[in-house]
Amino acid sequence: MGNLPLEVKVEIPNGISYTQPTGLFINNEFVYPKDKKTFEDISPATEEVITEVYEAKEEDIDIAVDAAIEAYKTWSVSKPELRQKVLLKLADLIDENAELLSSIETYDNGKSLQNSKGDIALAAAYFRSCAGWCDKITGNVINTGGQHFNYTQRVPLVCGQIIPWNFPILMLSWKLGPVLATGSTTVLKSAEQTPLSALYIAKLLAEAGMPKGVVNIVSGFGKIAGAAIASHMKLDKVAFTGSTLVGKTIMKAAAESNLKKVTLELGGKSPNIVFDDADLDESIQHIITGIFYNSGEVCCAGSRVLIQSGIYDKVVAKLKKAAEAIKVGNPFDPDTFMGAQVSEVQMSKILQYIESGKEQGAKVISGGKRGDAKGYFVQPTIFGDVEGHMKIAKEEIFGPVVTLIKFDTVEEAIELANDTEYGLAAGIHSSDVNKCIGVANKINAGTIWVNTYNDFHPMVPFGGFHSSGIGREMGEEVFNEYTQTKAVRIKLNTSRF
Ligand code: NAI
Ligand code: MG
Repeated sequence: MGNLPLEVKVEIPNGISYTQPTGLFINNEFVYPKDKKTFEDISPATEEVITEVYEAKEEDIDIAVDAAIEAYKTWSVSKPELRQKVLLKLADLIDENAELLSSIETYDNGKSLQNSKGDIALAAAYFRSCAGWCDKITGNVINTGGQHFNYTQRVPLVCGQIIPWNFPILMLSWKLGPVLATGSTTVLKSAEQTPLSALYIAKLLAEAGMPKGVVNIVSGFGKIAGAAIASHMKLDKVAFTGSTLVGKTIMKAAAESNLKKVTLELGGKSPNIVFDDADLDESIQHIITGIFYNSGEVCCAGSRVLIQSGIYDKVVAKLKKAAEAIKVGNPFDPDTFMGAQVSEVQMSKILQYIESGKEQGAKVISGGKRGDAKGYFVQPTIFGDVEGHMKIAKEEIFGPVVTLIKFDTVEEAIELANDTEYGLAAGIHSSDVNKCIGVANKINAGTIWVNTYNDFHPMVPFGGFHSSGIGREMGEEVFNEYTQTKAVRIKLNTSRF
């Protein structure tokens, strides 16, 4: 403890070696936490320790928050051109380092390199999109008649942000993009399972010309560093992505401390509906990527597939074939689609759900077991004959497990789709656009994909209804979440003129 250098050499199994920062990134420098405590970071595909990193505790969060507050004084009134320049440079640096960043992500999280490469490209695209917003976030003049002049300003915020392990860089980009664009500042905590890529991005932020203290990044645990952020008295906002359970804790902590603004991106149990007039081969592809992309560790995974009865048997046969063709294993192999689950804990949770599905009488159509190789691998698993009351049909599994449910009518499909406490996303597959829009109108979810799935764009907002969260990321809407409105009403005396 305490002997760990602030930089270590890491050899990634694909042959790339690089220098990994290990400290807390505060004021554009990597520093030791006060008590110099470290924790181990595992590679889930090999079950080996990659390195240790330094852990932030409450007093370190205080120091990082003070840095963000100090930086706010100048960054919040900085020229939009400067913020744009930093964002564009950061996006370029991410592109230039895409191979390294995707390798770090795959090593740390276990996800396939294919998937990591997609994440990195989306992160760069999102920072670029935010760069375009810097000079377009403005207030209004409000004409109330008489002798008053009124204007509004969009005031940036000092933020705390807590991200999960399933998309470390992508979730970091969704959090930092609007901070940088609006003139806000932040303390961001990565997930304890995947601290590496955030620290590497920290290095790139400094290289991109970001003034010190604007973005501070710490590694640490939820119950200590995360809780310190959520309950901090000096933060204006907390943004969180993760489980619904922890989301509730965060909202409570925010309420009981200083009523800071809260945005939450939480869990889901999203329906993916296939009507009998859908293009079958296209739909199969979207069902497969909808659930097995990122080894199923996706908040909006299409984990409940609702299939119209006329095509049920055909869809089941095709899904079985497609799932069995998925390559699971060494995440660095370019052909691997599904790498390892993030941790032993997560893998065990998924395997328990699989057992409960079997016990409650659902039929295993494919998979249903842990992978053979060393590492936290789970086979792509499909359950047929699933009934609404079963645990696997109700609860978020967050793994490569999908339930197939048969329906007859459009009304029945809508009822089944909405039979959930969540409301993050839904998929609709049909060649009848009128049906698609009609059904989309009746489904309670923040994102509806029609004839596609897991299909994101920086301009399109993302977030949940009901227990899936509060607020939106991306699109124009996110900038409301990272500013508060100040209204100035001036009583004039223009009678002399
Ligand atoms: P989690 O919700 O505990 O972790 C997400 C983040 O929250 C991490 O950075 C963690 O350190 C932090 N955190 C944990 N407890 C906290 C607390 N009391 N105060 C403040 N921050 C806290 O998720 P976990 O335990 O890793 O995974 C459990 C389940 O959560 C998964 O099986 C999945 O169902 C869901 N999940 C959903 C995600 C999403 O994208 N919506 C992402 C990750 C997990
Ligand atoms: Mg790890």
